[in-house]
Formats: sequence, C-alpha cells, structure tokens
Amino acid sequence: MAFESKIRPIYWENGVSKMLDQTIIPYEYKYVDITSGQQMFDAIKTMIVRGAPAIGIAGAQGVVLYAQEGRGGKYKDIGEFKSWLTEKADYMATSRPTAVNLMWACAEQKKVIENSTSDIEGLIKELTDKAIEIELDDIERCKKIGDFGAEVVPKGATILTHCNAGALATGGYGTALGVVRSAYDKDNTIQVFADETRPRQQGARLTTFELAMDGIPVTLITDGMCSYFMNKGMIDMVVVGADRIAANGDAANKIGTYTVAIAAKYHNIPFYVAAPLSTIDTSIATGKEITIEEPSHEEVTHINGKRICAEGINIINPGFDVTPHELITGIITEKGILRPDYNKSILEAFKK
Ligand code: MRU
Repeated sequence: MAFESKIRPIYWENGVSKMLDQTIIPYEYKYVDITSGQQMFDAIKTMIVRGAPAIGIAGAQGVVLYAQEGRGGKYKDIGEFKSWLTEKADYMATSRPTAVNLMWACAEQKKVIENSTSDIEGLIKELTDKAIEIELDDIERCKKIGDFGAEVVPKGATILTHCNAGALATGGYGTALGVVRSAYDKDNTIQVFADETRPRQQGARLTTFELAMDGIPVTLITDGMCSYFMNKGMIDMVVVGADRIAANGDAANKIGTYTVAIAAKYHNIPFYVAAPLSTIDTSIATGKEITIEEPSHEEVTHINGKRICAEGINIINPGFDVTPHELITGIITEKGILRPDYNKSILEAFKK
C-alpha cells in the first residue's frame, strides 16, 4: 500500500510543463510554466527541477516543447523535422551531466521520433503521450521501490537519508523517501534523520519540507553529525537515492553520500540505495566512468547570497560522489532488492 505524497514537482498540462520551483522552497511553494525547449534546458541546468528521475521527466517534456516549436511549416518535410528534433533531444540530454535518467528519457523520445510514421502533429501527440507515460510510470515504479524497501525497514526504525530523493526528485513519491513513505504507512513509529546536504542544502530545504508536509517525523542534522548519531546507536539504516549506478553497483549520488556509506560500514549499519532501473547504466562497468558535475563555486563560498569565506581562496565543488559497491547492502529497485554480486543481480533485474 502506498502513502500518497501531496507533492507533484512536474506535470504536463495543455501543452505546457508545470514545474514546482525548487530553488525557492521552503520560502515559497510556486509553480512556473515552462513553455519552450530552451526554457526547459535552463530549468534543468539551474535546478528549478532537480533529482534524477524528475529531470528525466523534464527532459522528455522538453523534447515535446521543442517539437511544438517546430510546428507551422518551418520544415519542408517530416524527415527534416525529425533530424532537427533529434538534435534537440541530444542537446536536452546535456543540460546536466551526471543523472543518467535524463539521457535515458531523451533517448526514449529519440526512439519515438525514429519509429514514428506520423506527420508532425501525429508525432507531437506521440511524444506527449511518451512524456506523460514516463511521468506516471515513474510514480508507479517509486511505489514499488517503496514497498520492496519497506520490507527491510525494522519496526520503529530511524532512517538516515542524504540529499533529497523524495517526491520532489521524482514524479511524486520518491525513491529513498518512497521507502520511507511505504514504511510509514505500515508503521507510523518510524522516523527520518535528514543530512542538511551542503553545499546546496537539499536535505535541509527539500527533504525536511516534503516530509513535514506529509506529516512524517523528521530531524535535521548537519552532514558532519552522522557518525556521532551512528555511534550512539540512534540510526538503524541508511537509504539514499542515486543519479547513476554502474554495472558493478557503484552508485553516484549527491556529494557526501560516500562519507555516510563509510560511516555506516564502520558502525555495521545497513546502507541501501533506492533507484529505478532507469538510473542503472549498464554501459559503464564501474563508477569511475561516471561524469561528475562541477556546479558553481558560489554554492560553497556563499550561503543565501552572503559570502562565508575569505575572498580569493581556492574552491573545488564536485556535485556528486561515487559510493563503491562494497559499501552497499542492497539496491532497492522496482523489480526487488538487488544484492551483491551486482554484476549478476542487475542483469537479472533487467530480464524480469
Ligand atoms: O543535484 P540534485 O539535487 O539533482 O541531486 C539529487 C540527488 O543526488 C538525489 O539523491 C538523486 O538524484 C536521486 S533522486 C530520486
């Protein structure tokens, strides 16, 4: 059974993408209309929408927006329209580099373009249907992830999570927080500890916001506190999301996740990654091949627009890190919980 979230970060309505602006949460809860392909590219890049599955949905919708712009006899025939649109789908896929769901969703739209036998209007309809399917399908997949994950949540557990892998990061249920929602539905004595997730503070700004909105108990801690609480026996398990998982199970997620995984291993606490199969990139053998985004250095030097360090110092700001598969107890997917050896269990999951 699924504990529904009230949050829907992105949906399609009358030819427009309705997007919850995640850059202003928790101060404001406001939807913006995304009406062009370039606007969608920028919305993904500037993180108005963020989280791996959500930017996949956004990418698919972005291709529809481009297709709509190509209406009105600009292209001499459908072949020319299709090759222009394929280039736009490739461009959309570059709006952020780490989360593979974005590339996956744009590739799904490219398949629609390639296989379509319709005219331009027919193709726009097919692309729209696909974008809506990707969105609704994500919610269903997350509910399955949630239900599989709930089976390994001990009664009354305190679950630590990092970043935001919740309704806000997906079609509207969450991967890591999908596990929390499904577990809470069975046992309302569980609670969440949320890492604040420097530098962008997705944990503080987004995870606490959405859990509070759904009435699920949450305690905010700073990133450096996780070992302290683990050592005190106050954390029963860790569940995080992922942006890309390699064939061997190495998992990229928000910077700081790797540190949490090491701390969990030291304290003998199960560490789970929750993600749909669209986050798994079997084309790469290990996490070493994952491109790590380097966001603006201002994320580190400033908080709420105010400089917090001396001028002119060196800054490095990798947006993600890769948790080695040895530290991962299980990968919770819509096909069940995958266990080591991940090279085998991942391949089997794709066959199911
Ligand atoms: O930079 P972000 O906010 O897009 O990073 C998000 C994360 O790292 C999430 O944990 C990940 O995308 C999984 S979302 C279900």
